Amino acid sequence: MHAAERPTEEAVGRNSPTAPPFVPPMPSSDGPIAPDRPVRFGILGTARIAVQVAAAIRGARGAELRAVASRDAERARRWAEEHGCAVAYGDYRQLLQDETIDVVYIPLPPALHPEWTIRAAEAGKHVLCEKPLAATLADARSMVAACRGQGVQLMDGVMWIHHPRTAAMKQCLLNGDFGPLRRVTSAFSFCWPRIPENEFRLQRAMGGGSLLDLGWYCVGAAIWAFEALPERVFGAADWYGDVDLSFSGWLDFGDHRTAAIESAFDRVRRRWIEVAGTQLSLVCDDYTRPWDDQRPRFWLHDSDGRSEERVVTGPRQEVCMVEDFVRLVQSGRLEPRWPQWSLQVQAVCELLDRSAREGKLLPFAASPA
Ligand SMILES: NC(=O)c1ccc[n+]([C@@H]2O[C@H](COP(=O)([O-])OP(=O)(O)OC[C@H]3O[C@@H](n4cnc5c(N)ncnc54)[C@H](OP(=O)(O)O)[C@@H]3O)[C@@H](O)[C@H]2O)c1
Repeated sequence: MHAAERPTEEAVGRNSPTAPPFVPPMPSSDGPIAPDRPVRFGILGTARIAVQVAAAIRGARGAELRAVASRDAERARRWAEEHGCAVAYGDYRQLLQDETIDVVYIPLPPALHPEWTIRAAEAGKHVLCEKPLAATLADARSMVAACRGQGVQLMDGVMWIHHPRTAAMKQCLLNGDFGPLRRVTSAFSFCWPRIPENEFRLQRAMGGGSLLDLGWYCVGAAIWAFEALPERVFGAADWYGDVDLSFSGWLDFGDHRTAAIESAFDRVRRRWIEVAGTQLSLVCDDYTRPWDDQRPRFWLHDSDGRSEERVVTGPRQEVCMVEDFVRLVQSGRLEPRWPQWSLQVQAVCELLDRSAREGKLLPFAASPA
């Protein structure tokens, strides 16, 4: 990457209301993918989510699943066999030393993302890192800085944003029929039958809590819909030890625009969003992952009870994400809006968490820089 192209500190999301709003770099799903040289992926850790992403890498155009590493060599070997990796490593560092690998996918618990993202960047690898980017904003900033310094792409693992349905929803929001956008409401939850043991989602030191795990999507969706950052936020949580088992957030974007977000580990599985303008509202009951991959849908509702269903099909969203990443790598140009978005989401989540802990409405600019 040329120095002139390097994003400034401001461009990657200074934690202030004056930071440039996120404008999603999409749709890119129809861009070219060079057939000659596949982009080779290595995976750190045999995580549950890695099974889906490995299948997506195998199915994506221009991508090759090359290697997996685990803390346990035998686990890596078995996983590689089962999921079609040519190489298995019993140590994450060995995978980073593999010169055939272009991209490292990091589905580790959030508190481990900074160390392994920074190591991967220092080894010259592009990084697709799972959400939340980190456990803290300070850690997320150091990841972004390391990737920028090494001239490698960083993107978080939020998938819905890459699906063509998202671009179609955005087009609706922008075409003027909605009138000014006023309100975003979004909930993401699931219910554990019983509280699990040794679960990083319930350990604050590991980056746990429903806000970072699930609310991350809802906060990102509100920023995506308004293309703005909140001016002030208020959070309230139901605590389980030092992590939130459920979280409710209120975000004021100014100019008569507000959002309400909810995340939880203790209630029915929901993954919906509503965006209301003065004239229309958009409802999507499964925006983070379609209930039916064959029929990703959303609805437009008016003030007189009329509604219209839209169905927007495409590849599975994890395939869309991998192909978008392949295009970025093949283009040889970095896209600073991806890490910028992650940093903005991380900053808002951190402020919401602080608000809930202090019981105070907090201005966004007051968050630690
Ligand atoms: N984008 C999405 O749709 C999506 C969906 C689900 C989860 N996620 C994110 O993906 C990440 C992983 O989530 P997951 O539920 O798939 O994780 P998981 O199944 O618990 O796996 C995490 C992996 O990390 C490795 N690891 C290394 N050090 C560890 C430690 N101290 N404790 C636990 N595991 C350790 C382990 O692999 P080895 O033992 O093989 O080294 C383990 O298999 C999280 O950031 C999560 O938020 C994203």
